[in-house]
Amino acid sequence: MRVLVIGSGAREHALVLAASHDPAVTALGCAPGNAGTAALAETLGGDMSEPATVAQLAREWKADLVVIGPEAPLVAGTADAVRRAGIACFGPSAEAARIEGSKSFAKDVMAAAKVPTARSEVVDNPAHLDAALRRFGPTWVVKDDGLAAGKGVVVTTDFDTAHKHALTLLDGGHPVVLESFLDGPEVSLFCLVDGRTVVPLLPAQDFKRVGDGDAGPNTGGMGAYAPLPWAPPNLVDDIVATVVQPVVDELAARGIPFSGLLYAGLALTSDGPQVIEFNCRFGDPETQAVLALLRTPIAGLLHATATGTLAGQPPLDWADGAAVTVVLAANNYPGVPRTGDVITGSEAEGVLHAGTRRREDGAVVSHGGRVLSVVGTGPDLRAAREQAYERVAKVHLPGAHHRTDIALRAVRGEIALPTG
Ligand code: AMP
Ligand code: GLY
Repeated sequence: MRVLVIGSGAREHALVLAASHDPAVTALGCAPGNAGTAALAETLGGDMSEPATVAQLAREWKADLVVIGPEAPLVAGTADAVRRAGIACFGPSAEAARIEGSKSFAKDVMAAAKVPTARSEVVDNPAHLDAALRRFGPTWVVKDDGLAAGKGVVVTTDFDTAHKHALTLLDGGHPVVLESFLDGPEVSLFCLVDGRTVVPLLPAQDFKRVGDGDAGPNTGGMGAYAPLPWAPPNLVDDIVATVVQPVVDELAARGIPFSGLLYAGLALTSDGPQVIEFNCRFGDPETQAVLALLRTPIAGLLHATATGTLAGQPPLDWADGAAVTVVLAANNYPGVPRTGDVITGSEAEGVLHAGTRRREDGAVVSHGGRVLSVVGTGPDLRAAREQAYERVAKVHLPGAHHRTDIALRAVRGEIALPTG
């Protein structure tokens, strides 16, 4: 199988790495890729933002399977274009990708499927903002009703901060979504979905705020771990039954079957799991932890998802133990990151690349906000965490920062489910 991965983050490096271990894979390509994927896969193409460009590349490269990593090309219809070219594609149609691309569409689907989620209101007129905000909060949750790479959300107990963020979004022409605040620990559950059949992966937790103790602004994600030692044993089955399968069935009934990875971001509240958001693709950085534990050959699995044959797959095979990933971010991230810093130690085991590129003189330099994802595994979460941070200590990126508390509260047994 010739497998082409689209994207350039550590998530795509993790997908490429997993595919490189699959004996069914005869050729591996990545477009546009980064300095890490280049060591494992042929680096192809340049600008992948046009669906037609990706479809043409897939045809020319004779791909048997195209795996689309990020949401933007999915929302733009890249999976549709690849499938029209007669090539199997892992990733939903543009229509189905609206489950991530439009928060109001997601809310509508959830209401129809009776899936528990935060109460919400869309505001598109600044004159209605004040009154709307007073129907929520404190705590206020203010979101951009579109793709915002995890950065469009402000959660605050301060009315003025909420008001200011909403006005900024409205001034930029973006409708605003206000939501009731969901209390309780967050879970990311990734499910392979082939239109009908749902196969959940291990549950994970990510860390969205930039600083230790969840301080500072939201980011694309600063670290993650899987599985969740504190989760009740029936958690995954529960979420599939009450959240994922109903949404998959609702989309199918609307004639827009979801094929690819459906990511449910949930809060485990005292009223049970409630949806914070859906994403239409693998999450970053959770994928870097989850795939480190997957033993089932991935290409066959993604191909079965893309071709509607998940029901015939054997159960997934997972390594025992846990995985932790720590993101190394560039100076000033999540603001405009400094780039061009020389990185050393980035070829070591467990180091996945995101914003990196290889300079003409051979040096690997930073080329984005989240630069590396460093992964550790071990027989339990404590050991996995230790290995991840040992590996972080051996990588050098001038001015970089990372969180030092990824998975720490879980290791210490400090995560508790709210009781109803
Ligand atoms: P989103 O972009 O919707 O994933 O939101 C980013 C982050 O904001 C989430 O991972 C949560 O930590 C937080 N968040 C979003 N919506 C809510 C909510 N309704 N209640 C509590 N926290 C939320
Ligand atoms: N881990 C958050 C995301 O991928 O959106």
